[in-house]
Amino acid sequence: MDSMEVNKTIAAVLVAGIVFFLSGFIGDLLVSNSRPHQVAFKIETPAEGPKGGAPAPAATPIAVLLAKADAGRGEDAAKKVGCVACHTFTEGGNNGVGPNLYNIVGEPIGKGKGFSFSSALSGKGGNWSFDALNEWLASPAGFAKGTKMTFLGVKDEQQRADIIAYLRSLSKSPVPLPTPTAAELNPPPAGGKEAAAAPAADQSINALLASADAAAGEAESKKLGCVACHTFNDGGKNGIGPNLYNIVGEPIAQGKGYSFSSALQAHKGNWTYDELNKWLAKPMDYAKGTKMTFMGVPDSKARANIIAYLRSLSPNPQPLPGK
Ligand code: HEC
Ligand code: HEC
Repeated sequence: MDSMEVNKTIAAVLVAGIVFFLSGFIGDLLVSNSRPHQVAFKIETPAEGPKGGAPAPAATPIAVLLAKADAGRGEDAAKKVGCVACHTFTEGGNNGVGPNLYNIVGEPIGKGKGFSFSSALSGKGGNWSFDALNEWLASPAGFAKGTKMTFLGVKDEQQRADIIAYLRSLSKSPVPLPTPTAAELNPPPAGGKEAAAAPAADQSINALLASADAAAGEAESKKLGCVACHTFNDGGKNGIGPNLYNIVGEPIAQGKGYSFSSALQAHKGNWTYDELNKWLAKPMDYAKGTKMTFMGVPDSKARANIIAYLRSLSPNPQPLPGK
């Protein structure tokens, strides 16, 4: 009897030991990829968060930012904001919480490397262009809703560009840097991060209109989403915004049976090319409190094309400047 009890006890202890050992082992398996337990999710405090939602951070074109970016600074930033907690950057480096990032620029988005991506990211399609990386790193969840990369994003656009320059450098043959167009270079972002969004002081609209293209402007107005809020045809209905037929030369914020904000109504006078240019560059600066919740068209060439398009929407288009 006694020896039986002893045997049972020993067996019980052994079983308990094995279970304990196995659970530890399985536990290790489960978490072995997540060494950095204390990953700080909220590493980057947005300096001045652009109000929630809007995943449209591209105030300054990435080509312009990259032209003055610094891969060394980017490497430091990747450490500082915590990318290194989840990613390795060396050739052949292991996947961690996130995939290895060697040679990422130009690669397919959310594919390969034996990493199991979320469908949010793997379903994106396309490659990691500089633009895509810029959007992604500004707001991962904005770029791919449901992504596994639980990281707030890098709000400072120059820091983002530095990091992208660093990523670009991690390759035997780095993808060529984009060349900023003249129009992109024109608005000098001298006043700091957000300054580039106020480019009204660039090349005069008159000069730009001379080479503007109404058809390109029509395409642009679709691409940028003006059509979501405006109709452009003769007698078209007001939507979220007023109908825009024959707008060039008309009084600002009047008529058409549309109820304008007092912010825009405070602007007297007519929609000259100049006024339209300023308005479309940054509606919220032009008329603080406007109902047109639209970021603006930072590219002055695109703006000129859109204005040329608006001009064409008339039985009797206004003369071009200097004509
Ligand atoms: C908390 C962990 C974490 C942090 C911090 C983090 N990432 Fe990620 N990253 C991930 C995960 C997880 C994925 C995979 C996302 C998915 O599948 O939705 C990912 C994906 C990526 C990808 C796409 C890779 C591919 O092959 O398509 C890039 C690029 C990237 N991260 C860059 C960065 C950079 C740069 C930083 C720092 C600014 C950073 N990440 C910070 C976890 C993280
Ligand atoms: C999210 C909806 C929205 C988008 C997108 C939008 N607008 Fe507007 N737009 C409005 C609203 C609302 C107003 C009225 C603003 C006010 O009263 O403050 C307006 C006013 C205007 C006016 C002044 C009209 C007048 O009669 O005085 C012009 C011109 C204009 N928008 C052009 C554009 C162009 C061009 C685009 C694309 C580049 C665009 N809008 C994108 C909603 C929008």
